[in-house]
Amino acid sequence: MLEITINGELHRYDGDPATPLLWALREDFGLTGSKYGCGAALCGCCTVHVDGEARRACVTPIGDIGSASVTTIEGLVQPNAKLHPLQTAWIELDVAQCGYCQTGQIMQAAALLSKIPEPTDQDIDEAMSGNLCRCGTYNQIRQAIKLAAHIMTQARK
Ligand code: FES
Ligand code: FES
Repeated sequence: MLEITINGELHRYDGDPATPLLWALREDFGLTGSKYGCGAALCGCCTVHVDGEARRACVTPIGDIGSASVTTIEGLVQPNAKLHPLQTAWIELDVAQCGYCQTGQIMQAAALLSKIPEPTDQDIDEAMSGNLCRCGTYNQIRQAIKLAAHIMTQARK
């Protein structure tokens, strides 16, 4: 039995500690926003945050999380139920096509903005290079990250 904090709530898990975090999130905790793509840390569909760092949940054993805090796309909404600025920007710019990769894209972008509040194109391209989109929404993603950065900068003033 292990304990794990997900989206601010403490959960118990009595399965195999070697189980990929993605499996546990989806199958045991009902958090199906994180998607399975490659299962090999190559596409970014499954990206979550572990103590604020972007992490590929498909290759992260749940037993390795320890006392760290996991955040999924479901936990990105702010406590007052306000969408994260990235979610607002994604909607405003109509980024998603099929949508399958977008959870991972948003979580990767959120980790970027927490470290670099006003990223350049190069910062964005470097941070997002491991998140693949078969629908080719890369330009819209870059624009949405910039819009979210602008929204967040304005909110800080
Ligand atoms: S499903 Fe995890 S990186 Fe592709
Ligand atoms: S929106 Fe379809 S894979 Fe990215």
